[in-house]
Amino acid sequence: FRTLGIGKHALQVSALGLGCMGMSYHRSFIPDKNTMIALLRKAPELGFTFFDTAEAYGPLVNEALVGEALAPFRKDVIIATKFGFKEGKPSLGLDSRPERIRQVVDHSLKSLRTDYIDLLYQHRVDPNVPMEDVAGTVRDIIQEGKVKHFGLSEAGVENIRKAHAVQPVTALQSEYSLMTREPEKDVIPVCEELGIGFVPYSPISRGLITGYINERTQYNPENDNRGSLPRYQPEAIIANWPLIDILKEFGDHRGLTVGQVALAWLLAQKPFIVPIPGTTKLAHLQENMWAVNYAFTEDELKNLTADLDKVEIKGERYTDRSAEQTRK
Ligand code: ATR
Repeated sequence: FRTLGIGKHALQVSALGLGCMGMSYHRSFIPDKNTMIALLRKAPELGFTFFDTAEAYGPLVNEALVGEALAPFRKDVIIATKFGFKEGKPSLGLDSRPERIRQVVDHSLKSLRTDYIDLLYQHRVDPNVPMEDVAGTVRDIIQEGKVKHFGLSEAGVENIRKAHAVQPVTALQSEYSLMTREPEKDVIPVCEELGIGFVPYSPISRGLITGYINERTQYNPENDNRGSLPRYQPEAIIANWPLIDILKEFGDHRGLTVGQVALAWLLAQKPFIVPIPGTTKLAHLQENMWAVNYAFTEDELKNLTADLDKVEIKGERYTDRSAEQTRK
């Protein structure tokens, strides 16, 4: 277990959470719903207590799936969801107006079949709504009991501070992996300073840091954003392969897969880091959780990190509007 946030804003969660987006959105082939319900119900048995969804995934269908699956476990799990897009659709742009936040929360409560949301994130910073108003609205909703904790996603240092001054932030979720290390510069340090938990999304870079995706991998154009992202194109995958080789070499000597080494490395960075790898497969769920058992020696971690630092990652993680909406 790990703790996100401090004092009365602290939230106890499993050291790894489960990212649920890919069970219905953006990860190629949409799996059978009953299989996903079974997977979600198996997760607590494997040690997962922390589940991540959003209004935007689907939209709406992912929250409903998570809600249906976890209803029998409600008291024993921590459910995180997010507001922040017009009509819940990222393609329509941002919307964090107070009245919209309230609308989303009421709808999410229904979809999730619950009367409280453990952790409510703003999905992306909305430049048209002052952060103080967003934080103030969430503070009021917390006082009403519909939400327990406040989070931000892809917010920059200035907005983290602004929000935290109005309603203490429990968790900051941003992309962080061995291919996306920018949060180390300022976001993780500010989380440490303020006592905010850090939740890396896409911690294995949307499946890249497993070695299972290669330059021949095809992405379903109907339901996969990776097909349009620079880092997932053949040239970038080939250029970045030295990173996979280093992780494989390290893992082969220790009985760990590439993905497990990548997750263990993230967990080793700070005690308040809780990655949320996504998966639609039971074997991967088990494999990922196994990573929490690996403890690096000081030398191992130092040497591995030094080797990884030498690899210059090619290809952006996002383009266009998606990129503009991050680290604000
Ligand atoms: P995101 O949550 O944004 O999808 P991620 O957590 O970095 O990003 O990666 C999730 C992707 O990695 C998924 O496509 C998942 O595919 P499966 O549903 O087939 O598992 C893949 N993935 C997750 N765990 C994996 C593992 N242990 N081995 C191989 N692929 C894995």
